[in-house]
Amino acid sequence: QARHLFNYNIVLIGFMGAGKTTISDYLSTCFAMEVVEMDQVISDREGMSISDIFEVYGEEHFRNAETNLLKEMQSKRNVVISCGGGTPMRDVNVQEMKKNGRVVLLTAKPETILERVKDSHDRPLIENNKSVEFIEELMLKRREKYVAAADIIIETDGKSELEICEELVNSL
Ligand code: S3P
Repeated sequence: QARHLFNYNIVLIGFMGAGKTTISDYLSTCFAMEVVEMDQVISDREGMSISDIFEVYGEEHFRNAETNLLKEMQSKRNVVISCGGGTPMRDVNVQEMKKNGRVVLLTAKPETILERVKDSHDRPLIENNKSVEFIEELMLKRREKYVAAADIIIETDGKSELEICEELVNSL
């Protein structure tokens, strides 16, 4: 029987480009934890990119897939769950995360986010809106839900991956 370091999951939430994927990879390397990258799992299962899922089936379909995946995660432990930026917008999703997860919110300034997402091409919500103004506005709309969902908040601006992971692990 494998021994688990954590008897709960670490759930990373935050805006697109806040560092969820990067930090989950880092945690996985440091602690040999399984990672569930929600966007990746959904995209693999549907056999198409996130942008195509949005275009072909609509956002609601994608959001339902997120909810279903989180429900599946309930039986898991010691997994890093890297959510999509919009996952905490549904209250039911937050309830699911909190059942067995410590929810960690990664934050960054809109300028930092823009810098990190400007060359990415599978983020339909931001694809034609890559500006600080758009990011700031969407962030404002989401902030309350993000903060309410979070057990731990970590600001990532100007910090290395190591520093962010140290801060995260120290606050678990
Ligand atoms: C979304 C964020 C994306 C992805 C989808 C919708 C959002 O995930 O789930 O494009 O609503 O903010 P990342 O935060 O990993 O980019």
